[in-house]
Amino acid sequence: MNGLPDSLRGLARSLLPEALLRSVRGWRRERTMSAYDGLSAKAAFEKVYADREWGAPRHGDSAYYSGDGSHDPDIVTPYVEAAGAFLLGFAEPPDVLDIGCGDFHVGVRLRPHCGRYTACDVVEGLIAQNRERYRESDVDFRVLDITAATPEFHEVMFVRQVLQHLSNAAIAAALPRIAASCRYLVLTEHVPAGNFPPNVDKMTGPDIRLLDGSGVVVTAPPFSLPVKSQRLLCKVPQYGGMIRTVVYQLDGHAST
Ligand SMILES: C[S@@+](CC[C@H](N)C(=O)[O-])C[C@H]1O[C@@H](n2cnc3c(N)ncnc32)[C@H](O)[C@@H]1O
Repeated sequence: MNGLPDSLRGLARSLLPEALLRSVRGWRRERTMSAYDGLSAKAAFEKVYADREWGAPRHGDSAYYSGDGSHDPDIVTPYVEAAGAFLLGFAEPPDVLDIGCGDFHVGVRLRPHCGRYTACDVVEGLIAQNRERYRESDVDFRVLDITAATPEFHEVMFVRQVLQHLSNAAIAAALPRIAASCRYLVLTEHVPAGNFPPNVDKMTGPDIRLLDGSGVVVTAPPFSLPVKSQRLLCKVPQYGGMIRTVVYQLDGHAST
């Protein structure tokens, strides 16, 4: 549905039955994904933003738009409330790493509840824009590819609607780096409602596994991330699935 003006996209979503929407998205996915074959994460997400695969920027001073999942208040507000409550549960505001921070429309709302805040993305121009737009927010914006580099340890890591766009090989490369860099992983993934086969592979790119009736579950094979505990923080219905946020306390790290 991307590629249509926003007003038409909204109208189409409200009028068309979900089955038809799924086949339109499936067709679009076939067409789009061949263009992503063999691209690095950096090249893939530069292309996603340049081609406005997740929609066009809403403000003239922005060249990047991270999608409705980062901007729709019905999706963002419950997440910010739940993640904010989690952060307020710490005795001191925890240091936070935000991996795949995107246009930072979500991260800026959680910034007040955090100690040190480091926000990373693989897209260089996006990080340059964030440094400029959010220069008052005391955030350390960095270019980082989580599949290729291990960030410095922070108490809490947010990875919101990032892994869902990656191939299984890229997720497998990212997870040990994630596990080495935080005590609490706050992970948000768009998954089908109800039971589903986890981690059906896809190519790295703009689309997600929902079209295949699958979603990322890091504790399931082939990833089987060891965790000490997990807790559902929030879930928001979207496109016949759920945008689900889980807090994982990672194995090997002492409890606070
Ligand atoms: C759908 S956006 C989500 C942005 C933000 N987390 C949010 O929820 O608003 C996914 C972001 O992940 C970034 N990303 C994808 N692969 C990455 C990687 N390997 N390392 C770091 N960032 C990555 C993309 O560039 C994009 O900005």
